[in-house]
Amino acid sequence: MRLSLGFVGFGNVGQEFGRLLLEKKEILRDKYDLEAEIVLICTKTRGVLASDRGIDLDDVLARLSRRALLSTADQTSRMDVFDLIRESTADIIFELTPLDVFTGQPATLHIETAIRAGKHVITANKGPIAYHYRFLRDLANTRRVCFRFEGTVMDGTPIFNLVSECLPASEVLSFRGVLNSTTNFILTEMEKGVGFAAALSKAQRLGIAEADPSLDIDGWDSAAKVSAMLNVFMDADMNPQQVERTGIRGLTESKISQLPQMGRRVKLVCEGERNMGHPSGRVLPLELPLTDPLANVPGTSSILEIETDTMGRLTILENEPRLRQTAYALLSDLISIRRHIGRERGLDSMNPKI
Ligand SMILES: NC(=O)c1ccc[n+]([C@@H]2O[C@H](COP(=O)([O-])OP(=O)(O)OC[C@H]3O[C@@H](n4cnc5c(N)ncnc54)[C@H](OP(=O)(O)O)[C@@H]3O)[C@@H](O)[C@H]2O)c1
Repeated sequence: MRLSLGFVGFGNVGQEFGRLLLEKKEILRDKYDLEAEIVLICTKTRGVLASDRGIDLDDVLARLSRRALLSTADQTSRMDVFDLIRESTADIIFELTPLDVFTGQPATLHIETAIRAGKHVITANKGPIAYHYRFLRDLANTRRVCFRFEGTVMDGTPIFNLVSECLPASEVLSFRGVLNSTTNFILTEMEKGVGFAAALSKAQRLGIAEADPSLDIDGWDSAAKVSAMLNVFMDADMNPQQVERTGIRGLTESKISQLPQMGRRVKLVCEGERNMGHPSGRVLPLELPLTDPLANVPGTSSILEIETDTMGRLTILENEPRLRQTAYALLSDLISIRRHIGRERGLDSMNPKI
């Protein structure tokens, strides 16, 4: 089956996904009967490419790696991203623009436009899930298209697909986790006696923290993840502003570094639950006993515990993720859309090879 793909945003994640698509080309064709063809790439400043005959991905990756533009600045300024989405022949739109943690825009509008145009959507941008998940899910159901977003929390580690595919008829009662790599890296360094500012500079040097790290340090990124999980797991209609939030500013290395001798460790913990029908969430630094699995996740790794009514507590650990893991989330979402289309059209065997 040939599926055409369009990208709104083609930065780090998009380009890594492009490399993974090339690497997995044979397995996608031979095992999943999937031939992916790119027909649209939109960026903000690096240009736009659109071609119904297919875009040469090797060429695009090479051009972007030498910082060449995809189209001239004049061509780019004349193109409207919403028209490009609507008019594209893409079967699937990938929304990969940067997160706006205070509004979830313009990503939500990109996704809405794609769904209204009858296209399946895959995103790694947590803004739309943290702010407008219910609306987008319902719209996608009305238009009978798939809306996938595995990469928005814990990269390619299955969180949402785990619950939807592998835990049918289960209820998620609560969850807790350590989900922000920048703050976890900083806290790990502070435990070694490194000051907050020096730990932050190191995170920035290693490319773990953004130039403006306040969204991580002040807990906004974590709050967006909590909101996204409440919306998806518990059908809440929350946004990150409604998540109680305390960041890690103000913690001192002198206190943090002494705690392990007393059997404790500080982590920036994300929590969510439903109480008497009301979903709520919080992000806050907590002193955890060393026997707690959340206390034993160092550096850029993440962990999530979900409490279910059927399987009790499940714990998922992601070990030092890199860009490849986020790209893999997009690939796994792509394959699940291919499977969905195959099932709808009665094309696939009932028991495919794993
Ligand atoms: N990086 C990670 O490890 C990671 C992990 C999980 C989730 N995510 C999420 O994945 C998304 C993409 O991340 P990234 O690291 O690839 O970001 P990035 O490198 O900054 O790339 C963003 C892309 O979006 C384009 N863009 C920005 N605004 C746009 C607009 N209004 N219309 C069209 N294109 C626009 C940019 O164009 P220009 O190049 O011209 O600026 C660029 O191509 C983000 O939402 C991020 O939160 C990232």
